[in-house]
Amino acid sequence: MRSPLPTHLDSLVNQIVCGDALAICTELPKAFVDLLILDPPYNLTKTFGSDTFREMSLADYEKWFEGWFAQMLPTLKATATLCICGDWKSSAALHRVLERHVIVRNRITWEREKGRGAKANWKNASEDIWFCTVSDNYYFNVDAVKLKRRVIAPYRENGLPKDWEETHEGDFRVTHPSNLWTDLTVPFWSMPENTDHPTQKPEKLIAKLILASSREGDLVFDPFLGAGTTAAVARKLDRRFVGIELDEAYACMAAKRVEVAEFDRSIQGYSGGVFWERNSLNMQERQTKVDLSLQPALFEKPLSDKARVKQRK
Ligand SMILES: C[S@@+](CC[C@H](N)C(=O)[O-])C[C@H]1O[C@@H](n2cnc3c(N)ncnc32)[C@H](O)[C@@H]1O
Repeated sequence: MRSPLPTHLDSLVNQIVCGDALAICTELPKAFVDLLILDPPYNLTKTFGSDTFREMSLADYEKWFEGWFAQMLPTLKATATLCICGDWKSSAALHRVLERHVIVRNRITWEREKGRGAKANWKNASEDIWFCTVSDNYYFNVDAVKLKRRVIAPYRENGLPKDWEETHEGDFRVTHPSNLWTDLTVPFWSMPENTDHPTQKPEKLIAKLILASSREGDLVFDPFLGAGTTAAVARKLDRRFVGIELDEAYACMAAKRVEVAEFDRSIQGYSGGVFWERNSLNMQERQTKVDLSLQPALFEKPLSDKARVKQRK
């Protein structure tokens, strides 16, 4: 963890800076970011550690966002991708600003399972991620983010499965991901990735963004790092990262998660190179065992770090 800001990129890489991203973004090196993940405070009154973000009018939120967003743009490579998180209240303001500065390519909406019911309104159970790029020259790896789903109506052609596979655990199809994500679980108390941070993102969500929009070794920048989800997932997926977080306790939490990520590379809901449906952990574990028993040669390879950690338990 670094504070204050180091001036050279080499001393920033894989570091968490404890500081105010809005104040220091102009001091950052130029054109070093392959993937920018922005998860700023939404336009809600919310306390993050020792600081409280106060809800403002949508017009003021738009001005606030544009004020620092425009200053962060020089940090991006010409080939960079940006993923910007928001909720239904802030999303329109984010979109207007993004349209003025970058190429908006899509809006991903993801379902938050958690959420309080409302008496006179619809329960809020979705969030958005704006998928943008700096130019038309950008990286996108759809094969890295495919979904493994149970097949409900298994169709056969000439007696053979059509675009699905039969396994000991059931019938599955590996499909292209859409811009509607319903396979995520917001971290809760019994999940290993859970922390005390009030708006921590699921590792599975960040893994999708990183796998789709960066290569191994690329640099992922998250200036609102929170509990460090982006940094931890970047390490698990062999990307480099730079993170900034205002609150010292969260920055420490993030540093701890990065340390753990060096030897535990598991990401709940992602295994075997595919993303699984929600609540399919048992199915994934069973399937992994079946896969291994069908490939005895795998046991001759040295154990992965993850396997070693499991062995010690
Ligand atoms: C929405 S949360 C990010 C959560 C994060 N994605 C995670 O998974 O843990 C926003 C974070 O930005 C931090 N923050 C707010 N203003 C900031 C600023 N000016 N500079 C750096 N961090 C800031 C807050 O403390 C909070 O942890």
